[in-house]
Amino acid sequence: MSRAYNFFAGPATLPLEVLEEAQAHLTDYQGIGYSIMEASHRGKAYDAVHSEAIANTKELLGIGDDYSVIFMTGGASMQFALVPMNLRAPGQTADYTNSGAWAAKAIKEAQILGDTTVVADTGKDLPARMPKMSEISESANSAYFHITSNETISGTRWTEFPDTKAPLVADMSSEILSRPIDVGKFGLIYAGAQKNLGPSGVTLVIIRNDLAERAPATLPTIMRYATHVSKNSLFNTPPTFPIYILMLVTRWLKNNGGLAAVAQENEAKAGKLYAAIDASDFYRGTAAVEDRSVMNVTWRLPSEELEAKFVAEATAANMVGLKGHRSVGGIRASIYNSFPAEGVDALVQFMSDFEAANG
Ligand SMILES: Cc1ncc(COP(=O)(O)O)c(C=O)c1O
Repeated sequence: MSRAYNFFAGPATLPLEVLEEAQAHLTDYQGIGYSIMEASHRGKAYDAVHSEAIANTKELLGIGDDYSVIFMTGGASMQFALVPMNLRAPGQTADYTNSGAWAAKAIKEAQILGDTTVVADTGKDLPARMPKMSEISESANSAYFHITSNETISGTRWTEFPDTKAPLVADMSSEILSRPIDVGKFGLIYAGAQKNLGPSGVTLVIIRNDLAERAPATLPTIMRYATHVSKNSLFNTPPTFPIYILMLVTRWLKNNGGLAAVAQENEAKAGKLYAAIDASDFYRGTAAVEDRSVMNVTWRLPSEELEAKFVAEATAANMVGLKGHRSVGGIRASIYNSFPAEGVDALVQFMSDFEAANG
């Protein structure tokens, strides 16, 4: 059976090399006589995996000693709550930009927990777009400034990250490790793994060390960033197998030229799809051109019937996961780091053939 071109938004495609490597070591990890899944999280074999996962992430992103890389569980959704619980003191507000569905979920949790200021709201704009800093005034007493760096559903991204007075906090779930970034601009970055890092089950958090110390004394131990920093993400049993795959994915990225190289490939892949959309009157992009995501490309066809036909015929041609999110409809092609360039070429050809037959 051949592998499909997998356009799902997450869990998403993983590098074939990584899957094959994991498969080769599945029942006996490097001669220890058992799988890494069956290994103690405090043993030598897993310790090497854990350390390399952190080291690779730090190296790829150029993370300095003033930051910690930690692995948590509960997905990005857990971070929606943990960020305000840890970083916002009584009497402070927290600034949030509402740029779409994921930002709105982060805002909802922040509002449940305390004072929250929505400093910009482009969540319902069409074409979908990111706020501009020129439209925003920051609150004087904000504990941090939250952005969703890539809106997975609408297909928009912050192409340039904003300069903010308060520490910048970013949900990077759907674009982490897809381009070089200046981590020094951020106070905290979080990302669920299941798009660019590995399988679901582990959440990557990059936190400036001084911010990890901010949590109020009443916060339970497991919910405090400082706990996971001081225990090197081994306070409780971490999701060892997802971290193992994350280690292999970050190793794969390093071996393939790091973030500068993958960013170039990502731009090229997305560029081909946007060029196909722009060259046609049949297809209509849904994101503002200057804010177009390089990871999630979204567009519409002239009718919902044609969209359903497009998805069905693409699936029959071994291109799966193209149906837009149920909240917005349309088509979405998620083309994360490990999505192959040939798959984009196949989709562009399919779009051209489909338009010729149905346009
Ligand atoms: C930008 C963004 N934030 C948060 C989430 C939620 O992540 P999780 O399901 O890991 O909690 C997603 C999931 O798709 C996402 O795309």
